[in-house]
Amino acid sequence: MRHSTLRQLEVFEAIARLGSFTRAAEELFLTQPTVSMQMKKLTDAVGLPLFEQMGKKVFLTDAGRELHKTCREIFKHFSHFEMAVADLKGMKQGTLRLAVVTTAKYFAPRLLGPFCQQYPGIQVSLKVSNRERVLERMADNQDDLYILGQPPEELDTIAEPFLDNPLVVLAPANHPLAGVKKIPLARLAEEPFLLREPGSGTRKALERLFADHNLAIKVRMELGSNEAIKQAIVGGLGVSVLSCHTLALDAPMGQLAILDVAGFPIERQWYVAYPAGKQLSIVARTFLDYLRQAPRLAGGARWPAETGTDRMPAAKSARRR
Ligand code: PGA
Repeated sequence: MRHSTLRQLEVFEAIARLGSFTRAAEELFLTQPTVSMQMKKLTDAVGLPLFEQMGKKVFLTDAGRELHKTCREIFKHFSHFEMAVADLKGMKQGTLRLAVVTTAKYFAPRLLGPFCQQYPGIQVSLKVSNRERVLERMADNQDDLYILGQPPEELDTIAEPFLDNPLVVLAPANHPLAGVKKIPLARLAEEPFLLREPGSGTRKALERLFADHNLAIKVRMELGSNEAIKQAIVGGLGVSVLSCHTLALDAPMGQLAILDVAGFPIERQWYVAYPAGKQLSIVARTFLDYLRQAPRLAGGARWPAETGTDRMPAAKSARRR
């Protein structure tokens, strides 16, 4: 095994990730016979099959999965080494792997713009999925840093709040409750709700609030995106609870009203988190330092006038869950 070359591991990693010899060959600019030969040598060195072919798709065997895990660690160490060398040369270079929850897509790219300008040598890979999927990625240690609305209880993590994330009740502008002051939560519970999909952090926060008050949510429809929910509200299908950030861009604001309901806004924060004990790369630490100035950087990101809420206050200190 020790005689296997780094190149073989690189080819193996690409096949494991892409699930195909052909696509791995394309990505690495190699011919198919070269890829097959490299994998034969690697399989001989391991002494066990690494792949199972089913139709056109390639699956990993148990040995293949173990090797894939090891490969990811090896390549991570290499890229940390490359970053350290670049740092010694006075440059910040490398890839920042960021996974963020769906709702963070409204501000994360805007935070990344100035960061990438400041550090042109840093490339960013941004994965956007709902909370549940982001937590799976975190448990699997797939990225450098994670942005989510509540630090996970299930995992030992370091989490730092860096931005406020109020959740508000949205209704169509012509809704009978629009403009009414201090609507009781029990009255809101009579309205049909448009809910995000299970696994969404926004949905979880709403469910928790209703459960704390022994109220049931009247679910009219489940939708997998904030955008679809806003459109469905405008279409008169129901009300919903979403992050204020979803109103930042292209919100049909004239057609939406924020209801003044007791217990709202739900005061949440955005956290940047990573598993406790994780060795952060230089690039990840650079981004973390940058995020600590986020409220200043987010400068123009005021809430829409209708909400009456002003700029987001600065982050509080780091905490460990
Ligand atoms: P979501 O997460 O986009 O999965 O709803 C948002 C949050 O956790 O606040």
